[in-house]
Amino acid sequence: MSDLGIGAGAGGGGATVRRDPRASQGVLADGVIKTKPRVERNRVLVTGGAGFVGSHLCEFLVNRGDQVICIDNFFTGSKDNIAHLIGKPNFEVIRHDVVEPILLEVDQIFHLACPASPIHYKYNPIKTIKTSFLGTMNMLGLARRVRARFLLTSTSEVYGDPLQHPQTESYWGNVNPIGERSCYDEGKRAAECLTMDYHREHGIEVRIVRIFNTYGPRMALDDGRVVSNFVAQVGALMHPRVRGCDVSL
Ligand SMILES: NC(=O)c1ccc[n+]([C@@H]2O[C@H](COP(=O)([O-])OP(=O)(O)OC[C@H]3O[C@@H](n4cnc5c(N)ncnc54)[C@H](O)[C@@H]3O)[C@@H](O)[C@H]2O)c1
Repeated sequence: MSDLGIGAGAGGGGATVRRDPRASQGVLADGVIKTKPRVERNRVLVTGGAGFVGSHLCEFLVNRGDQVICIDNFFTGSKDNIAHLIGKPNFEVIRHDVVEPILLEVDQIFHLACPASPIHYKYNPIKTIKTSFLGTMNMLGLARRVRARFLLTSTSEVYGDPLQHPQTESYWGNVNPIGERSCYDEGKRAAECLTMDYHREHGIEVRIVRIFNTYGPRMALDDGRVVSNFVAQVGALMHPRVRGCDVSL
């Protein structure tokens, strides 16, 4: 999955060695900060780590032995999703909104923070597009400063109402910038654009993953996405009293 730099996995990081006159203050060329030499553990930031996908990712990384920092504003995420990780020595949670910058020393950034279900992203569309644009800009700024590898979770919605099935990466989509769903779709398109521009302009190593409909444990039945709606409707037909459990088939 390549010409876009799309693909999974992340690794590496660490400081560059270009110096400028401010080097004694810990600043290298191009505003890159001088980071501590790598510790034994890979330091990973997961934004949106208390959400459905993010909590599974945090769990995987913690079990792999990475030093994981989860940041989340808990708009759609929940402490319940990460309760089993709290207290582990290689896991930290910070309540933070990615619309605001944050300074951390990390080797990799998995940037997931964004409401993903239509009921949630349409609840406050301006905040949704700010989260995608400003949030991604802040996280790319951080990646640039500490030379971390960066991964953006984008979406199949970047293809809009596609005229080609299945969609390939070379297809650019059939999009609408002014509709009710545009805060999400166009926000992710802008986030992808920023990601590639940071890559071209500042040499940041990046990955973009366009996720299609995903479901599983910890996704709420009333989440409002296509699979949870389907399961909820089937459940309601077969068991009228089924309410509020997660989506595990
Ligand atoms: N699950 C899917 O089917 C699917 C499909 C396509 C794309 N994605 C993408 O994957 C990522 C994760 O999706 P998910 O399904 O886990 O959704 P989710 O709503 O469960 O998780 C999103 C997380 O981001 C947090 N968040 C939202 N705005 C934030 C902000 N401004 N600052 C900090 N945290 C914030 C939420 O509280 C939540 O924990 C999203 O970027 C989404 O667009 C998911």
